[in-house]
Amino acid sequence: MAGREVVIVEVGPRDGLQNETTPITTADKLALIGRLAEAGLSRIEATAFVSPRWVPQMADHEAVMRGITRRPGVVYSALVPNEKGAEAALAAGAQALAVFTAASESFCRKNTNCSIAESIARFRPVMRLAERAGVPVRGYVSCALDCPYEGEIAPDAVASVSAELLALGCSEIALSDTLGRGTPERTQAMVEATLRRAPAAMLAGHFHDTSGQAIANVEVAWRLGLRIFDGAVGGSGGCPYAPGAAGNLATERLVAHFEAKGISTGIDLAALERAGRWIGARLDMAAR
Ligand code: HMG
Ligand code: MG
Repeated sequence: MAGREVVIVEVGPRDGLQNETTPITTADKLALIGRLAEAGLSRIEATAFVSPRWVPQMADHEAVMRGITRRPGVVYSALVPNEKGAEAALAAGAQALAVFTAASESFCRKNTNCSIAESIARFRPVMRLAERAGVPVRGYVSCALDCPYEGEIAPDAVASVSAELLALGCSEIALSDTLGRGTPERTQAMVEATLRRAPAAMLAGHFHDTSGQAIANVEVAWRLGLRIFDGAVGGSGGCPYAPGAAGNLATERLVAHFEAKGISTGIDLAALERAGRWIGARLDMAAR
């Protein structure tokens, strides 16, 4: 993290691509991951070891994780919903895992077919495997502001799920505006509530950008002490089980925002923009 005052986590290869209806080859995914590492991203969520029936676009998770040409200093992580996913991800060389639950019961059920409590029970064996392998586990809390099925979510619900994930052993919580409709005011209330249960150093901001408010929300979270933010190159993505959600905050915008404030990200913006244009063109070609 030398020279970086803020850590940008690139989730494009996972969150960005999981919702694409056009097929993307494993080779293109690997080329994208390579370009992102070259641009200076130090943490890349490379794929998801989820059920291929639930998210077909991530069905090549094993080939992706095994096929990465590893760049020293870069951590390549995998999203996993359960023990089966964690086992396979670690066997394929994941250097970090990410589990995911929600602050909304309805979304948790739609996304993973279980309650919040059941999802956390599924994470216990994941934590044991990760501990044995010596890899950290991030915990996503989806619907930190709004749920596509339940509407506005109470800040205390986010704080309490975050505290449960930390108690389980997660090293970081990604507060996730799944729908991307959050406002800076509501982001502030949610982050403040969570900070009463968790230190800022263990929190990350994961904002989708449906309403164009994601940068303003990042700024609020930054002022409250968060130093880890997620982006997806090109602003791609969304969750297939969150109708109405648009793409993630573009990593290019996130990097440009911090660099304009004189805050170093350690990322080469021009190289990142080239990676964004490259994957955009591949997606266009695949769609034809
Ligand atoms: P289920 O159908 O209830 O699971 O799905 P099951 O345990 O009954 O198993 C059903 C089948 O899935 C079995 O196969 C299992 O082996 C298989 P069968 O015997 O029928 O052939 N299976 C698996 N296969 C591969 N990898 C696995 C795995 N586990 C079971 N890990 C399950 C439950 C959780 C598996 C399913 O609901 C699922 O995979 N959901 C994933 C949904 C998803 O990936 N959503 C997008 C990511 S989350 C997100 O985008 C939000 C985030 O970005 C933050 C934010 O913005 O909010 C992180
Ligand atoms: Mg997301």
